[in-house]
Amino acid sequence: MTRLLGISGSLRTGSYNTALLRAAQQAAGTDVQVEIATLHGIPLYDGDLEAASGVPAAVKELKQRIIASDGVLLATPEYNGGIPGVLKNAIDWLSRPGTDIPKVFRGRPFALLGATPGGFGTVLSQNAWLTILKQLGVQLWSGGRIVMSHAPGVLDASGSISDEAARKLVTDFVRGFAAFAAQPQATAQK
Ligand code: FNR
Repeated sequence: MTRLLGISGSLRTGSYNTALLRAAQQAAGTDVQVEIATLHGIPLYDGDLEAASGVPAAVKELKQRIIASDGVLLATPEYNGGIPGVLKNAIDWLSRPGTDIPKVFRGRPFALLGATPGGFGTVLSQNAWLTILKQLGVQLWSGGRIVMSHAPGVLDASGSISDEAARKLVTDFVRGFAAFAAQPQATAQK
């Protein structure tokens, strides 16, 4: 069984990015498990808070879920042509303390995907993530691309996809990434 963790970069109940992860969960097949994590409960990064009480419980819990996974599906919205602050904030917390970066990120398979009601499919946001993921040393899978435009016409909140071609794209993406994450050389620290 390959275990993937989908992290949604949107807190919205009706988030298309969370729905996209639900679609990936449904498309994954019986040998791939996709769990979904949201970022609720993670405060804004504050060095004073960290110095006084360490890494918050919600961040510690998410770290453990990442470490327990074989790979991470990062579902990113696009805000103003770039990455959403909520998701960058979570990644910043997850990188603290810096000594945890090898455990949480380095060598860990990551895949980027995103959905938007707009016409450009989160291309700019996904592009902006590249420098950050490189900095963290993840193994970014580039064998597939999900840049879902006009999401309200394609995807409902449950993750059901109306369009056959989009359904195949999501299936190929999640199964392709799972195969990559399951490779022995892709194994990150446990
Ligand atoms: C947006 N949205 C947006 N969409 C896009 O494709 N490119 C963009 O640059 C932006 N910019 C932007 C800025 C801000 C501040 C907000 C709140 C929204 C629209 C965005 O894609 C839309 O709200 C999605 O529904 C957000 O993702 P979730 O919450 O559905 O996962």
